[in-house]
Amino acid sequence: MEYFTTTSKPSRRAVDCVIVGVYNRGKLGAGAIDIDKASKGEIRRLIKSGDVSSQAGRCAMLTGLPGVKSSRVAVVGLGKSGAFDAKQFRRAVATATQAISRTKAKQVLNSLTLEPVSGASPYYLARHSVEATGEVLYRFTKMKSGRKKAASPLNKIGLSILKKGDAARSMLGATHGDGIVAGASLARDLGNLPANVCTPAYLARTAKNLAMGNGKLSTRVLNETEMKRLGMGSLLSVTAGTREPAKLIVMQYKGAGSDKPVVLVGKGVTFDAGGISLKPGLGMDEMKFDMCGAASVIGTMAAVARMKLPINLNVVVPAVENLPSGTATKPGDIVKSMSGQTIEVLNTDAEGRLILCDALTYSRRFKPAAIIDVATLTGACVIALGAHRTAVMSNDDALRSELLTAGDNAEDRAWPMPLGDDYAEQLKSNFADMANIGGPGAGAVTAACFLGKFTDGMKWAHMDIAGTAWKSGAKKGASGRPVPLLTEMLLARSGALP
Ligand code: BES
Ligand code: MN
Ligand code: ZN
Repeated sequence: MEYFTTTSKPSRRAVDCVIVGVYNRGKLGAGAIDIDKASKGEIRRLIKSGDVSSQAGRCAMLTGLPGVKSSRVAVVGLGKSGAFDAKQFRRAVATATQAISRTKAKQVLNSLTLEPVSGASPYYLARHSVEATGEVLYRFTKMKSGRKKAASPLNKIGLSILKKGDAARSMLGATHGDGIVAGASLARDLGNLPANVCTPAYLARTAKNLAMGNGKLSTRVLNETEMKRLGMGSLLSVTAGTREPAKLIVMQYKGAGSDKPVVLVGKGVTFDAGGISLKPGLGMDEMKFDMCGAASVIGTMAAVARMKLPINLNVVVPAVENLPSGTATKPGDIVKSMSGQTIEVLNTDAEGRLILCDALTYSRRFKPAAIIDVATLTGACVIALGAHRTAVMSNDDALRSELLTAGDNAEDRAWPMPLGDDYAEQLKSNFADMANIGGPGAGAVTAACFLGKFTDGMKWAHMDIAGTAWKSGAKKGASGRPVPLLTEMLLARSGALP
């Protein structure tokens, strides 16, 4: 995708489509005022006739407007003018892009960036534009045979700015948005691939390929023998029931000399059948998404490397498949983690924490400035927060609010949940140092408390993305979340935000 900024009037620009907006009660956005004037009142006339709607989610595609150089004008509903915030802005861009993607338009000029949007600078408006467009244009057709529906030919996005002085920041927003789209699209691809393709070895190969020809990025992959030598008995207990070899993927990006790195750890269960504690059949296919934590941290690494951020970032992905078989771990089995702590596996379906704890212990060698694990960890989190927000638990108040703020700015929202000894007590075992489940109450919190037993002395946060990583139903597919949140956090840390 190519990007440009312009201060010229939308009606004066010879592109394939301009995007303008109208608010409720016949209030025109800045671009619509210009198009209306140039066309001698066409927009107002079409609002009166009911052919143009101001409702959010609606878009009218007008062609051949007199006095307008663009061959198409997409008029999108912006809803109430007082309520036009970053979220509504993204929705409007998405709605227009949806309509445009059904045409042959190659270059569009988005004039919605001229609107006053509460709390959003030209930088963020450019970024939101590019991200919303990328989200809509994303297609997953790799696994379809035969003639595939042609992808939209859209390849150039223009962003209207009020003054020349906004050009640099707007372009920076577009560039960062482009990196986030690339990272989130990679995460979505990995998530959407079926488990018979996206195996632990496939994730490892993807991570290796990303490092190819990038001097700042390197990838190492540890096999089961190496993990055994390190004492990762907890991680290895999860892979005991499958023939698919487990991998520990370690990526290192050096963009800032000898600074301590941020370490991202992503749950990479390429399929979670539950093991001997087998899951029910209905909807089990969705457990191919149980590696979306891994996908999101690899996607974030791809975004960071593409933007060449001046920061040090490590990614650690424990990748396994969780299946039942004659060699699988059984409920009641006791395993020894790399930390030395023993774990009674009361439920083999609580496997995410069993692989993450060893990945967290392994990550100590990097002396992280902060360590953040990302995981589709608990069904309980879906019950608590639904699909809207990612849960964040942390042993460090500053790190927690850093992540929540990043989520707000990136429109990829998160919400705090507690940790605490009271909850951690639910993990007591009669036979080992701890059990891997904490009973029926507060499942998302006790899962986080379990991980907390392996992060002593590190600034650590846990993100449960069980509700946000993918959509179910007719629009089933990976969301790419929380790549925008994580990338925003790293942009802020590296001082790259204007
Ligand atoms: N991958 C699942 C969590 C999950 C379930 C995510 C549904 C999204 C939708 C995880 O491995 C799991 O099975 N967790 C169990 C834990 C329980 C046994 C304590 C769960 O949430 O039921
Ligand atoms: Mn499970
Ligand atoms: Zn799982």
